[in-house]
This record gives sequence, structure tokens and C-alpha cells, in this order.
Amino acid sequence: MKAVLYTPSPETLDRWVDRMRGLLPDWQFDAWDDADLEAVEYAIVWKPRTGDLAKLPRLKAIVSLGAGIDHVLADSELPTHIPIIRTVGQDLTQIMREYVLLHVLRHHRNRPAQVANEHVKGWDAVLAPPAYRRKVGVMGLGNLGAAAAETLASIGFQTSGWARSQKQIEGVTCYAGPDQFDTFLEGTEILVNLLPLTPETTGILNEDHFAKLPKGACLINCARGGHMDEDHLLAALDSGQIAQATLDVFQVEPLPQDHPFWTHPDVTVTTHIASRIDADTGSRIIAANLQEFEETGTVDDIADGARGY
Ligand code: NAP
Ligand code: GLV
Repeated sequence: MKAVLYTPSPETLDRWVDRMRGLLPDWQFDAWDDADLEAVEYAIVWKPRTGDLAKLPRLKAIVSLGAGIDHVLADSELPTHIPIIRTVGQDLTQIMREYVLLHVLRHHRNRPAQVANEHVKGWDAVLAPPAYRRKVGVMGLGNLGAAAAETLASIGFQTSGWARSQKQIEGVTCYAGPDQFDTFLEGTEILVNLLPLTPETTGILNEDHFAKLPKGACLINCARGGHMDEDHLLAALDSGQIAQATLDVFQVEPLPQDHPFWTHPDVTVTTHIASRIDADTGSRIIAANLQEFEETGTVDDIADGARGY
């Protein structure tokens, strides 16, 4: 079988090609620029250029180098009949659980205030209630959101979650659909976003929804930059409606050097690493999916292109 790779950065390309060749020695893996495009059957991609996937006449499946498929659907010339396989797995879910737990705890215990205190050698007592008096809400209860919510509930947070369809997750109060969104927001002091980016969710982190949160709420966006209106967040931070934010994803990545988030005292910036796929972990998941797809014509993690995730 012939597959082509199209990775986020040229620096990682060789490593990915190496790993895939090592795992599936009977297959042929090439970088886009070296591939015979007429013969390619599988395209393993992150942010493909518009029209590139349409140049592959024998394409059987597109593999997203990540859980999200928005970067594939953004291609206006995408051959939409070709299945898109998401790359998800236990290791990536675990890494996201850790990211969410770390930053929820930072906001819960007001670690930014403690750090500010340290900088002036202050001895202020920055106190926090126990987790069971803190209300945390997770937007998106799929693979990652459900795992994050379970983790938060397991250490005692009052945890709620919101998805399109009704869920049952132990210890988590679940809300569903647009009708229950306001109730979910009104009961959330630390909001975690793990939605996919679709036409319905684009811009969902905006001033109207920030206004529904209790004053002084904190926000963690580890899904996509397109979910959030960045100016609305800056205004909400200025007014105190949002007290602090941790942002892993941005409208423009890398975050431009002159962006106000870099220096904002109440914003923590991370560099789209909440659960970034790496060649070692990702190649194992992708190799298993490619083999299964080749044998059976399907895998569990096929996205629904029409739904957008
Ligand atoms: P997933 O399994 O597809 O789950 C998506 C969840 O969002 C589902 O619970 C779905 O509801 C819900 N949802 C979708 N549209 C909705 C809407 N309009 N209203 C309410 N809920 C809606 O996705 P996942 O694997 O958990 O990944 C989520 C996202 O995380 C990815 O799409 C990606 O953007 C982001 N991500 C970021 C990183 C990072 O490093 N920062 C890493 C991995 C993923 P139903 O269950 O009812 O369908
Ligand atoms: C990363 O952002 C992913 O979608 O896996």
C-alpha cells in the first residue's frame, strides 16, 4: 500500500516517515514532495493545502494527524466521499486528562496569584475552598471531554458537562443541546472547552456566553482557537467577568509575537500542546488503523464529515 505524509512542520516529517516505515515495512510511506501522487491510497495529514487531497485519484482514506478534523474540512476542494480517520487513543486521552487537571487545579488554587506574590516576596495567604465546593464545567463530552470530566469528578469537583446528545457519566451532571447551555454556563466557575470546531461551535466562547458564567469565572480553551472571540475574552478579563484564562489554541498559530495574550497578567499561554500527537505515539495508532482499514474497509475512529467531527 502507498501512503503519503503531510506533517505540521518539516522538522517532524522525517521522524514520521521513519516511524511509519518501521511499523509497516510492507507499505510505502513517502513525504508529499517525494510521492507518486497518482498511486497514493492513504494520505496522513495535518492542515493540507487547499486542493492537494483532490490530486490523489486512488485515495481510499484520509488520516487526520489529530483528533480534530476541522483542518481537513477547511479544504474547499476536499473529496468529501473519502472517509476521514481521526487519530485518537489512550495515551492522547491521558495526556489531555493531565492538561485539564493541571490547569483546573491552577485556577482552583489561584496559582497565578501565588506566583505574583512570590515575585514581590509577599506573604499573602491565597486560599481556596475544597474541590467539592468548586463548580467545573466541560464543553464537549466526547473522547477527551468525557475523560477530563471523569477525572475532575474523581477528585471531588462539582463537575458538569455539555454535549449535543444526553450523556451519562458517573459523578458528572450532564446537559445537552442549545436549550440547556445557559443552565450549564450559569453553574460553571471553571469552564473547559473540548468541543470540535464546526459551524455550530465556531465563536461559541463569546461575550454573550461569558456573561452567563458567574462573575470571576476562569476559562481553559484546549480545543480550537476558532471557538473563541479573542477580543471578547480581553474585554471580559478587563471587566473581571473572566478572572483568568489558560489558552492552548489561538486564531493564529503560532501566536503572533505582539499578541496581547503573551503578556496579559491573567492569561496563561501554552503552545497547542494540551495533547499534541507526536511521531512515536501517533505512528503506532495510525499503523493499527491503516492495517484495519485495509483489511476491513473501516475503523472505529472514522469521523462524520457532514457533522464536522
Ligand atoms: P469527539 O470525541 O468528537 O467529541 C466531541 C464532543 O463535542 C461530543 O461530545 C459532541 O456531542 C460534542 N459536540 C459537538 N458539537 C456540539 C454542539 N454543537 N453542541 C454541543 N456539543 C457538541 O472529540 P474529541 O476527540 O473529544 O476532541 C475534541 C476536540 O478537542 C477536537 O475536535 C480538537 O479540536 C480538540 N483537541 C485539541 C487538542 C490540543 O492539543 N489542544 C488535542 C486533541 C484534540 P455528542 O457526543 O452528543 O456528539
Ligand atoms: C490536536 O489539536 C488534535 O486535534 O489532535
